[in-house]
Amino acid sequence: MGVGIQTMWSILLLLSCIFSAASASVGYDHKAIIINGQRRILISGSIHYPRSTPEMWPDLIQKAKAGGLDVIQTYVFWNGHEPSPGKYYFEDRYDLVKFIKLVQQAGLFVNLRIGPYVCAEWNFGGFPIWLKYVPGIAFRTDNEPFKAAMQKFTEKIVNMMKAEKLFQTEGGPIILSQIENEYGPVEWEIGAPGKAYTKWAAQMAVGLNTGVPWIMCKQEDAPDPVIDTCNGYYCENFKPNKVYKPKMWTEVWTGWYTEFGGAIPTRPVEDLAFSVARFIQSGGSFFNYYMYHGGTNFGRTAGGPFMATSYDYDAPLDEYGLLQQPKWGHLKDLHKAIKSCEYALVAVDPSVTKLGNNQEAHVFNTKSGCAAFLANYDTKYPVRVSFGQGQYDLPPWSISILPDCKTAVFNTAKVTWKTSQVQMKPVYSRLPWQSFIEETTTSDESGTTTLDGLYEQIYMTRDATDYLWYMTDITIGSDEAFLNNGKFPLLTIFSACHALHVFINGQLSGTVYGSLENPKLTFSQNVKLRPGINKLALLSISVGLPNVGTHFETWNAGVLGPISLKGLNTGTWDMSRWKWTYKIGMKGEALGLHTVTGSSSVDWAEGPSMAKKQPLTWYKATFNAPPGHAPLALDMGSMGKGQIWINGQSVGRHWPGYIAQGSCGTCNYAGTFYDKKCRTYCGKPSQRWYHIPRSWLTPTGNLLVVFEEWGGDPQWMSLVERVRV
Ligand code: GAL
Repeated sequence: MGVGIQTMWSILLLLSCIFSAASASVGYDHKAIIINGQRRILISGSIHYPRSTPEMWPDLIQKAKAGGLDVIQTYVFWNGHEPSPGKYYFEDRYDLVKFIKLVQQAGLFVNLRIGPYVCAEWNFGGFPIWLKYVPGIAFRTDNEPFKAAMQKFTEKIVNMMKAEKLFQTEGGPIILSQIENEYGPVEWEIGAPGKAYTKWAAQMAVGLNTGVPWIMCKQEDAPDPVIDTCNGYYCENFKPNKVYKPKMWTEVWTGWYTEFGGAIPTRPVEDLAFSVARFIQSGGSFFNYYMYHGGTNFGRTAGGPFMATSYDYDAPLDEYGLLQQPKWGHLKDLHKAIKSCEYALVAVDPSVTKLGNNQEAHVFNTKSGCAAFLANYDTKYPVRVSFGQGQYDLPPWSISILPDCKTAVFNTAKVTWKTSQVQMKPVYSRLPWQSFIEETTTSDESGTTTLDGLYEQIYMTRDATDYLWYMTDITIGSDEAFLNNGKFPLLTIFSACHALHVFINGQLSGTVYGSLENPKLTFSQNVKLRPGINKLALLSISVGLPNVGTHFETWNAGVLGPISLKGLNTGTWDMSRWKWTYKIGMKGEALGLHTVTGSSSVDWAEGPSMAKKQPLTWYKATFNAPPGHAPLALDMGSMGKGQIWINGQSVGRHWPGYIAQGSCGTCNYAGTFYDKKCRTYCGKPSQRWYHIPRSWLTPTGNLLVVFEEWGGDPQWMSLVERVRV
């Protein structure tokens, strides 16, 4: 028996040497990531660079460092970097190299999740839309066109990092890279081709010789030497697939994302800290907060469908980059406590003893000292436990950390930091608005295409815009009975998603929209038609492309029918195969009304002739930048749905008209957390405020443009400062 264990340890040692020898400075063994020969407990946090501005990055990184982080984790966002094949973009919010160098300058490491599939509530999971139209392609499986494109982009990024000497082995900050993202569940569903793809992805990545380890998250069969890692609210029970791999947690969910129509999720810091301590006490050595700063889905980058523009995530740094207290502070204390145990945590495996029915001690006993974690798993009762020479009070669902096995320096449920209250202080209201009403039927045939039948939306728009018009003429004979009896025909439209406005003869007849849980929608309404030609115009609107699900690239959007009109002399008409005229995007988009130059291409109405609560209306106003440095937001409480631009930069989609469903109730930190457990803002707009980055403003004359689909009232829109006190 003794010999057996000894042999096993020698094998482990040998393997660890092999994996660490692969690169001079980053390797791993069963305990931890090894940097320059030292096992490390690594505390990491996700900050996705395009979800903030380069001007915000240094401050976010400093706050992450001050919060006790060693590593910044980010995905790489393919569709931001390669908007059309071979045309790369690495500027501004997509300046990946700059972001990584800033992290390096702050003295932190980087975990680069190249993907290039990222999920992340990001449009199309990070895939460029053109990828969908590569002949013969199927995403994320053993498919040659897909693999070729994935390899090309992965190589592009790796080579870029090498050229800039950003991998740790060349003196840079990158200590880990990730290939794919949570592929395990997909592989499980699709079987053999999935298995082959996993193998290929791992081999391809390892073949790029970055000199630092690769990881795959939620991938039980990650091939050697790739490390499989855990994602979730809790990961204490996770075991990597080989005894010589360290126990790593790549996504500690600090909250959850907000969807339009959903309430705002929060996760109590007591439970978050408890989950982390639980992971560390059971031998974990790397964890990453997803998200540490969530930020904003600017432009049309939100995934979906129905992801909100805010990606706050209830993260320790809020959407605007302010410290979210007590979360930030309590985690900082947790990190300090964990770091004071590091010497013991990396040296030995814990021994576990029972302290009571629902209580345990995890002890790391080393030659140079001892560290202990005392845990109370009970969700209701505080307990006093005896450990060593002392007695310790443990609140329910909590862990105390004793870096010397004597003094409890931290308990996960004892929060000493004050809660910071958010204030949204109005700076400007009643801006000098002007309006321009968008056309709802086309007298102008330019830019239209007429086709037989109904076409899929993304095929038509290539996701260059949210909007696609489907237009047709309904000719009503003067002998139709409904013209006399007033029983107007029933128009029924099935749409694959996501939202739909129905206009008849230029008038809005109705609006329908789906939800994340049920993106499909049906419009069914009796419609007033007149004898002769009636202009039917359907405005189909996409609200972010799916970012998750097996073969999500095949999911449709737009009006695919059937469309029927019931209650005519001849019964029901099936309109699905009629001739439909298509127009991509809004006229205002084509004119660039949101840009500084384009905005002067039309005559805007003002004063008494301003549009009043009209659907499909553009509004513009100018304002001077308010003094100071407080983050800014637009209060869109009086608006319905649409998009916002500042000086030509897209702030994102607004949809305060979508009210959060569900019940919020009270929230007890104790007990297993799940995403719907602690929600706020039920019965209120899912998102009322929209972040306006300071760096997008000039001192005077900033152009604010809002495209409003529903008919909100711009008079009440205001610019506010966000403060936390
Ligand atoms: C994970 C995924 C992340 C993100 C998260 C939910 O499964 O890896 O990219 O989508 O879920 O916020």
